[in-house]
Parts: sequence; structure tokens; C-alpha cells
Amino acid sequence: MAEEVLSNLMSEDRSFPPSEDFAAGANATAALYDDAVSDREGFWAEQAGRLSWAAPWEQVLDWSDAPFAKWFTGGRLNVAYNCVDRHVEDGHGDQVAIHWVGEPGDSRDITYAELLAEVSRAANALSSLGLVAGDRVAIQLPMVPEAIVAMLACARLGLTHSVVFGGFSPAALRSRVEDAAARVVITSDGQYRRGSAAPMKENVDEALADLPVVEKVVVVRRTGTDVPWTEGRDLWWHDLVDAQPTEHTAEAFDAEHPLFILYTSGTTGRPKGILHTSGGYLTQAAYTHRVVFDHRPGEDVYWCTADIGWITGHTYIVYGPLANRATQVVYEGTPNTPNEGRHWEIVERYGVSIYYTAPTLIRTFMKWGAHIPAAFDLSSLRLLGSVGEPINPEAWLWYRENIGRGTTPIVDTWWQTETGAIMISPLPGVTAAKPGSAQRALPGIGARVVDETGAEVAKGSGGYLVLDQPWPSMLRGIWGDPERFRDTYWSRFADLGYYFAGDGAKYDADGDIWLLGRVDDVMNVSGHRISTTEVESALVSHPTVAEAAVVGASDPTTGQAIVAFVIARSGTAGPDGDRAEAVAALRDHVAKEIGPIAKPRQILIVPELPKTRSGKIMRRLLRDVAENREVGDVTTLADSSVMELISSGLRPAA
Ligand code: WT7
Repeated sequence: MAEEVLSNLMSEDRSFPPSEDFAAGANATAALYDDAVSDREGFWAEQAGRLSWAAPWEQVLDWSDAPFAKWFTGGRLNVAYNCVDRHVEDGHGDQVAIHWVGEPGDSRDITYAELLAEVSRAANALSSLGLVAGDRVAIQLPMVPEAIVAMLACARLGLTHSVVFGGFSPAALRSRVEDAAARVVITSDGQYRRGSAAPMKENVDEALADLPVVEKVVVVRRTGTDVPWTEGRDLWWHDLVDAQPTEHTAEAFDAEHPLFILYTSGTTGRPKGILHTSGGYLTQAAYTHRVVFDHRPGEDVYWCTADIGWITGHTYIVYGPLANRATQVVYEGTPNTPNEGRHWEIVERYGVSIYYTAPTLIRTFMKWGAHIPAAFDLSSLRLLGSVGEPINPEAWLWYRENIGRGTTPIVDTWWQTETGAIMISPLPGVTAAKPGSAQRALPGIGARVVDETGAEVAKGSGGYLVLDQPWPSMLRGIWGDPERFRDTYWSRFADLGYYFAGDGAKYDADGDIWLLGRVDDVMNVSGHRISTTEVESALVSHPTVAEAAVVGASDPTTGQAIVAFVIARSGTAGPDGDRAEAVAALRDHVAKEIGPIAKPRQILIVPELPKTRSGKIMRRLLRDVAENREVGDVTTLADSSVMELISSGLRPAA
């Protein structure tokens, strides 16, 4: 134990330089940093030049209407053509694009030629529904090939997709469908989760009740479960798509044509529809996938374990890898179905060489034990990645030792739904990696750590992470809410024109960046962003709750866990009432309102909440309680005895 603590403290000094072999063959070289500095726009033009454009751009960056960026203005391209057709035209039609593995054990290998046929059919099908470029399509699907096909079919037609994570509640789906005014929703009958089939279509029906904006619901058959059916609105995917011709000519769209909207939690109760467009997004998705993962088409077998419902799935399952002609694994299910060796069995079976996952899962693998991966042949792995939250040095080292045989580079990649693609990361083959640090902005990207006034902090000091230059895959706005876009990201350092990321960070003595977590009321649970306000709103919508305050408390596996403090309405669950039952009901209520990922780990029924004189809840004090710490400074509380009251109420009843 003492040794562990010591090695943790020393972690900043540990450094893992790339092997000579890796460095010699790597896609990235140290010269990239200089190239990008000496001619930033030229650098990005060169990256964009790796894509296929139907018409060239006139200007690399138009920042005249900042913070609304335009990249590659006047350029025209088709995103799906870039991800599929051109590889087939280049003679790679027989290369496997997707090794798909279903949770129950079924599998499919899909070549680029087959993917082209499927995407073309699906595009013809969506056109037949009367959808035209600019229309929005919502997609709530499990990790089945049709999810990727549907996204690419939308991209091919210039339809803006809005993918909603399969674990989100009907209420969450409804608000997203409404906000984007989606004309069509694509879903499935059900989804496999931990070995059994759970309904999906039923939830979609609930979400869409009396929502006239949705004209059609297209249903993929996955689990074979019976589903309710609305005649005239609902269509089976196989009836609609299978009969379509496999030829479809892709039309080129403007570089700034909206590609997708993806909702993410902010500091208020209402999720933000983050808007991404085409040319700049695809440029940075492909560039980062190539240099950060050192990806080689036709040689590597790549696997990103994210769900397509999150930005990681959009950029590093769909757009980046396919633009780069990757052969990738897509796995439908949970990592412990049917057993805890599932991922390693898949790595062995397909010879996965690049594996990208989240710290929460790495810590879960640690808990399950090193003997599990040790039973498999993982020698194909040559690069590992991490994303979603800060990775603690122990987890980093365990990952390298037990999954990476003590030799593979690890890339700790920092980015956000808003940034669209990786922004800060070591470059494999170039950077000497430090466990726990994302290290340095990528070539072409500007990031710095600043104080309250926007001045850069000194080495060894901490502050706020900002991005000081526009980047190609940056969000182009919040759907329907330009003011919120300015307020949220651009108002904090308005004079300097910096993008405020919402993360705390520090420089170490070498000037490398260490991410320290969110500085706003956003929690990070298993790499998923959840707003405290959203969970509080869900709680107070329950009839027994008068008031609620939610904090993210540190958790050894999930990074942060949701802890809620709730004041019961008088006459409901009294202080000695049936608390266990009341708490269980509230947890279920939150899951129903938002989704199971938002279920609080702990709900504490308290008599009061700590508030300042102006009525603001002091979450800092509640975090102290949730993390079992001595409660901090209470002098700004309107009533300083409240914390005593809360703590005494938490003592187990005799
Ligand atoms: C937030 C963005 C980007 C894909 C997944 C999450 C945190 C992300 C790291 C990292 C430390 C990280 C930040 C960020 N985050 N990657 N490598 N080290 N923190 O996307 O849901 O938009 O969340 O995730 O706090 O702001 P997201």
C-alpha cells in the first residue's frame, strides 16, 4: 500500500519514450508540430487534401463572424462518399470494413463493397420517404451495423442525423426529437443488454406519443420481440431498405453543410444540441485518427469500444476510421457478457492491433483481475488509447502492463462533444508518454491553461483549459440557440476570443497538460457527461420530493458518482419513514426520467440544504459529505448550523 502511494506521487516523473521501431514507422513525426506552427492554414489544407472533394475550397478558414467558424469555404464534398465509395473505387472493395460481433454470439463481416451497397440502399430508402437535404433524422439504435449504415445514408443525402444513446429514456428521446424537429426516427424492436433482450421500440412509441412532427418510424429487426405497431407511421427497415437498388449517386454538399447534431449535458437542465458540419469535421476526424492512433489502412485492425450514441462513436467508429479505410471491430454488447474475458477473446479472434476505450472500463478490468486478459493472446495489440475522463496513473500503468504487454504506447486523448475530434494527446512514436497526462495540443491545435483573467499560468500551476485558435472540427453552434452558444463557450474570455472548455487543468514542470476534471456543474460518470441540474429536475419532478441537490463524488470505478441530497415533502417519507423504499423509488424515477446512466449511486434524505444568503446551494459542502470528508468552511452559509443538521441526520438510525 505504502509503495502504491509512493509510486503515485512519483507518477509525474515517469516517462515512457516510444521504442525506436515504433518511432521509425509512425505516421506522425515531430516535424508536424513545426509545420503546423509555421503555416497553420496550410497545414490544415494539407490534411483536408487527403479527402476527396467534388469542388475545391476558396478559403481555408473564415473567422470573420467569430465564434461562428467556416472552414474550407466554397468546397464541396460528400462525407459518405469519402467514407465508403472512394475506397471501393480505389480497389479495396473486398477489404473488411466492419467485423461486427453481436452480444449473443452472432457475427457479420462487412466489406467496403457490401457497405457501399447497404448505404446506397438505405439512402434510396430514405429518399423514398420524401426526405431532402437539410431534414433531420433521429436514430436510436443498439450497436448493430444498421446504425452505421443509417448514419452514412443520412450523410450521403445531406440529412442531419441526431443519434440518441439507446439507454436514454423516452422523455430524453422526445425532447431531442422535438428540439431538432426530426421527420423520421430510426430504431429497433429491441436491444441485447447483459444477455437478454430489452425493448426499444416501445420506448420510442412512448417518446413519440402525440408528436406530429415525426412522420415515419423505421424499425430494424434485431431481437425478434413483438412490438406495438402504428399503421401508416411504422415501417420495417428490411421491408423498406432490402428492396431498394444498390446504386445511388452521392451528391456533393457544401463543406459547411450540417452533418449531425449530438445532444450533450450542460449546466442547465436542458441538453444542448451540438452542431457539427461536414468538411472541417471530416478533415480533423481523419487526421486525428491517422496520427493519434497511427492507423495504417489494410494492416491494422482497429477497435473503439464506445457506443455510437456518443461523440466518440461518431468520430472514432464511423467517420474517422471509415474515412481512413480502417478494418474495425464493432461489438454490440457489454464487456462481461457472457464472461469477463469477452473483449480479449474478440481481440484474439480478430487480431485487434489498436484498442481505444475509457478509464472507467480499464478500472473495471483491474477489478476483475489481470488473470482474465492473461488467458488470451493479445500480442496483436500495438497501440492503446483512453478517453472520456482523466486516467489515473495506476490505471494507465495497469493498462500498459496487462493489456499492452508493457510495450505499447498509450494515447490519453482529451476532447469533447463540442470539439468533434481529439485536441490534446501524445503522438505515438513522437511523445515520451507520462501516465495520467494528455500532454500537448496536437499539431494544428492551440490549447493553453489560463487564470481567471485569461493570462497563461506558469509551469507547475493550474487554471482553466482554453482553446485559443479555431479548429476544423469545432462545433458550429448549439441547434436553434446562438445566444447559448456564445454564453456557454465564448463569454468567459470574450476579449481574448478563447473557447472555454469547462475543464480545469495544470501544466507540469515541462509544460505538459494534466486535465483535472470539470469546473462547472457537470459531472463525469463513467466518461458520460451528466448535469447536476438535470438530475435535480428529475428528482423534484417526483411527488415526494420538495427540493434536491446533486453532486459528483469521486468514485474508484466510475470516476465520479452521482450523490443526491433530497428534502422530502412533508407527509411523505419522514425522517424515520421507509427510507430504503423511498430511496429505491427515487433512483428508479431518475432512471425513468433521464436513463439508467443518471441513476444516483446514493440518495440521502436530509432535513435542510446548505445555502448561501442569496439562496445558492453550496455543493462544495455537500461534496465533502458525499466523499466522507471533514466539512469545509461554512461561514458563507445563511444558516451555519445546517451542515450539523445534515450530518446528524445521516447517522444511522439506532
Ligand atoms: C469531457 C467531455 C470526448 C469523448 C468523450 C467525452 C472529459 C474527455 C478526457 C481526458 C480528462 C477528459 C472532460 C471533457 N474528458 N477526455 N482524456 N482526460 N478528461 O465527451 O461527453 O463531450 O465530455 O470529458 O471533462 O470536458 P463529452
